[in-house]
Amino acid sequence: MSKYIAETLITESEIKAMVERLGAQLNHDYAGKQVVIIGVLRGSVVFMSDLIRQLDFPVEIDFISVSSYQGTKSTGVVKIVKDTDHDVTGKHVILVEDIVDTGLTLNYLRELFTDRGPASLRVCSAFDKPDCRQVAVAVEYVGQAIPNAFVVGYGLDYQQRYRNLPYLAVLGDDGKEGQDE
Ligand code: IMP
Repeated sequence: MSKYIAETLITESEIKAMVERLGAQLNHDYAGKQVVIIGVLRGSVVFMSDLIRQLDFPVEIDFISVSSYQGTKSTGVVKIVKDTDHDVTGKHVILVEDIVDTGLTLNYLRELFTDRGPASLRVCSAFDKPDCRQVAVAVEYVGQAIPNAFVVGYGLDYQQRYRNLPYLAVLGDDGKEGQDE
C-alpha cells in the first residue's frame, strides 16, 4: 500500500511507545476506580484495542458511533448512528478518540455523556490537530499532536480505506484516485 502514501508521519514503533505512555498515565490515574472505556467508532478501534491491553485495572468497554464527516470534510452536524449499551451513571468514563480535528464531534460527545451523570469524564485521543479547532474542547490525554493534514492509518480512513495501516500517514494523490468526495 506504500505507493498510495505521500509521507509517514508517525511510525509503528513511535505509536507503540505513545500507547505505552498513555497506558501508564491511565494506570496511574484510574487505579481502583470503576471505569467504562467508550470508543468512538470506527476510527478508534485500532488504538483502543492496543490501549486497553496496557491497562492493569478492570475495565468495561462500549462503543458509540456518530457521523459528521463526508470525504475529508466535517459537515459540522453530529448525529448518533449507534449509542452505547452501558449505563455510565456514577462511573468513570474515558472516551477514546482516533483524532480531534475541528473539535465539533468531541464537543457534542462531551455534552452528551456529561448529561448522563458519570463520576468523571475524560478524553483520550491518539492524535490531535490543535490548529484545526473550530470549538475549544478539553482533551485530557493526547498521544501525539500533528500538523494540519488529512491523515490515514492506525484506524483512520479515507472513504473507509487505509484503516489497517499500522502507522500514521499522509495520503498521496494516488491514494485518492477513483474516490470522489
Ligand atoms: P472533528 O469533529 O472535526 O474533530 O473530527 C472528528 C472525527 O473526524 C475524527 O474522530 C475522525 O474520525 C475524523 N477525522 C478528522 N480528521 C481526520 C483525518 O485527518 N483523517 C481521517 N479522519 C479524520
